[in-house]
Amino acid sequence: MPFMEWSEKLVTGVKECDDQHKKLVSLINELYDAMKQGKGKEVIDKALDELVKYAGYHFTTEETLMSKYGYPELAAHKREHEYFKNKIKEFLDKKAKGEVTLSVEVMSFLKDWLIKHIMGTDKKYGPFLKEKMGK
Ligand SMILES: [Fe+2]
Ligand SMILES: [Fe+2]
Repeated sequence: MPFMEWSEKLVTGVKECDDQHKKLVSLINELYDAMKQGKGKEVIDKALDELVKYAGYHFTTEETLMSKYGYPELAAHKREHEYFKNKIKEFLDKKAKGEVTLSVEVMSFLKDWLIKHIMGTDKKYGPFLKEKMGK
């Protein structure tokens, strides 16, 4: 069983975003597996870097769509993305100083935040964007 599983509960209905969420889930699983299998620093850092970059790319995709179609809750949504990005930045800074390492706790934070954000916040834009995008 993978660390994080995709489920219908995570579907927003906006295909581009759903595809990106699936990719995020698989990147989280790859990182978790690399950690669990005791892969070297290089492999783990590469997987972590890929996940962080892809998350940033995904947030930009959502924010661009919300902005383009005048989504009324854009500002609050953006704040959640910023919170997550700041948390990651804090973690990476501490990690670079050798104060922390990647752990199950950190992985659980990533997973739980993502599930909560998709189900509670991303899904709200689903009906709005689908209507505006005409699909
Ligand atoms: Fe989002
Ligand atoms: Fe999202």
